Amino acid sequence: MAYNLLKGKKGIIFGALNPKSIAWQVAEKAHEEGAEFILTNTPVALRFGELDELAKKTNSKVIPADATNLKDLEKVFTEAMNEFGGKIDFILHSIAMSLNVRKGLKYDELNYDYFQKTIDISALSFHKVLQTARKLDAINEWGSVVALSYVAAQRTLFRYNDMADAKAVLESIARSFGYIYGRDKKIRVNTVSQSPTPTTAGSGVKGFDGLMDFTERMSPLGNATAEECANYCITLFSDLTKKVTMQNLYHDGGFSNMGMSFRAMQMYNKSLESSNLGIKIDNDED
Ligand SMILES: NC(=O)c1ccc[n+]([C@@H]2O[C@H](COP(=O)([O-])OP(=O)(O)OC[C@H]3O[C@@H](n4cnc5c(N)ncnc54)[C@H](O)[C@@H]3O)[C@@H](O)[C@H]2O)c1
Repeated sequence: MAYNLLKGKKGIIFGALNPKSIAWQVAEKAHEEGAEFILTNTPVALRFGELDELAKKTNSKVIPADATNLKDLEKVFTEAMNEFGGKIDFILHSIAMSLNVRKGLKYDELNYDYFQKTIDISALSFHKVLQTARKLDAINEWGSVVALSYVAAQRTLFRYNDMADAKAVLESIARSFGYIYGRDKKIRVNTVSQSPTPTTAGSGVKGFDGLMDFTERMSPLGNATAEECANYCITLFSDLTKKVTMQNLYHDGGFSNMGMSFRAMQMYNKSLESSNLGIKIDNDED
C-alpha cells in the first residue's frame, strides 16, 4: 500500500544491481511513493546487472558512475539536476565491496591494497557523494541522505573482516557530515544498520547462511528483509522524519540489543547434548 510519502521528491539511488539488492527494493518503493530518481552503478554492474529492467519499471534514467571517482560523481549530480530542472531531495548510498572478503583472506592476513579499496568503495565513497553534493549545492533544504550499514561496526562478527572497519568509518562520516550539512543546509544524514540480507554482497560473506539463521533466532522480530529495509528508508526520505539526523538507526528486528535468546540457546543446547559433555541442559523458556 502506497501513501504518497515521496510525492514530488527527486533523488539519486546508488547500488541497485539485481532484484535482491536493497537499493533495488528502495527504488521500487520510492517509485510507488511518487518519487522520481536517477539510478546509478558502476559500468561493470550495468553490464552484468539488470538495472535497465528497473529503469524501465520505474521510469528512471541510468547514469554510470564509480562512486569512488569524483568526476563520475560530479557528472551524476550535474546530470540529475539537469534532468529534474533543479535540486534533489534524497540520496541512497547502498554500496559495499571487499576483495579481502571475496578472496577469503582472514583479518590477521589482510592484503592492504584490498583493504584500502574496501575503505574507499564502502566508506569514503559516502564522503565523496556528500562532498560532491554540497559543492554543487545539489540537495534541497530538509533533504535526506541515507547509507546502509551493519552492526559489525559496533560488535565483532566472525568473518565480517575489513568490512567492519569500513562500516565504522561510514557511520562516523554520517555523524561528521551530518553536523555540517544539518547546520548549514538543514540536510539530514543517517545510516541504517540492516539485518543480514541474502543479496549478492551479503551472500559473499563465507558462512552467511549460518549467520542468517543465528540472527533470525536472536532477533525477537526476526531478520528484516530487503523490502522491509526499503520501507524504512522511505520514511527517512519523507517529511515525517525531518529532525532525525546523525544517527545510526538499527533495522534488525531487535538483534543489536540482544545478548542471548531462547531460540538461539535451544540450538546451542542441541549441540551440547550431541557432544555429550555431561553438562546439565535446561530447555525451559522463562
Ligand atoms: N546484504 C546484507 O547482509 C547487508 C546487511 C547490512 C548492510 N548491507 C549493506 O547494504 C548495502 C547494499 O548491499 P546489498 O546487500 O544490497 O548488496 P548488492 O550486492 O546488491 O549491492 C552492492 C552494490 O554496490 C555496488 N558497488 C560496488 N562497488 C561500487 C563502486 N565503486 N561504485 C558504485 N557502486 C559500487 C555494486 O555494484 C552493487 O550494486 C551495502 O552497503 C551493504 O554493506 C548489506
